[in-house]
Amino acid sequence: MKIVSTINEVRQQVKAWKKEGKTVGFVPTMGYLHEGHESLIKRAVAENDQVVVSIFVNPMQFGPKEDLASYPRDLNADSILCENAGASLIFHPEPEEMYEDAFCSYVDMNGLTDALCGLSRPVHFRGVCTVVCKLFNIVAPDRAYFGEKDAQQLAVVKRMVKDLNMDLEIIGCPIIREADGLAKSSRNTYLSPESRKSAVILSKSIFMGKKMIEDGERDASKVINAMKDMINSVPLTDIDYVEIVDVNTMKSIDEIKGEILCAIAVNVGGEARLIDNFMMTV
Ligand code: PAF
Repeated sequence: MKIVSTINEVRQQVKAWKKEGKTVGFVPTMGYLHEGHESLIKRAVAENDQVVVSIFVNPMQFGPKEDLASYPRDLNADSILCENAGASLIFHPEPEEMYEDAFCSYVDMNGLTDALCGLSRPVHFRGVCTVVCKLFNIVAPDRAYFGEKDAQQLAVVKRMVKDLNMDLEIIGCPIIREADGLAKSSRNTYLSPESRKSAVILSKSIFMGKKMIEDGERDASKVINAMKDMINSVPLTDIDYVEIVDVNTMKSIDEIKGEILCAIAVNVGGEARLIDNFMMTV
């Protein structure tokens, strides 16, 4: 497995693979990889001849008061995980390689990004769309793999690919959880032992909300309120949102029917803003 830091090196390698008729899978990440990322890489390895993993903490998707500086980084551990999972190439650029001084072009979206995380993180999806578009142009993959934990990001990327006629397939992969249910996230490492105990309430509320719908509840506000009450019942939790939306529009719904996304974001202990969700067809 090679680790490269320039766009040129990635392009040369991918061109060589394509000349040999090989397919290329791509897993974009911000590093500090965990079993969630590992599952994406393994799926990509199973479905493609070669797999590129990008590790780039993208400054453009962080707001001024967010955790860009403290975002965890460990290239050494990441390389071992990628190699063991079967990746062929890591692309690990410096910010200057991705954004030269004169940089002034962006990919933006409305509608899908006006709700959920887009409301509390106003610049986030413009940064995600711009960097993912750039990475797709650099890697030119046949397929790219994203986690369903970031359900809104997955919907946004799928929309961007469709709207801008990008020639690749986007594949969503299931949420990977800790033994107690907490969704795996690089940001879990911010949690103190006390906050870690409280954080399990996110997945508990997700499982409860899902069960309510499976048992026949169709009033979105009843499910949302029950989930909020559960989250508020433990210390150190500060709800950003608990929403049930139509997965195709990200618009809130009153009656639960069709393809729905129930998504939550909770600040835990003032240390980490964590997200979780479930999707269902009712
Ligand atoms: O999900 C992430 O880790 C990031 O948002 C992504 C897709 C790598 C873009 O920076």
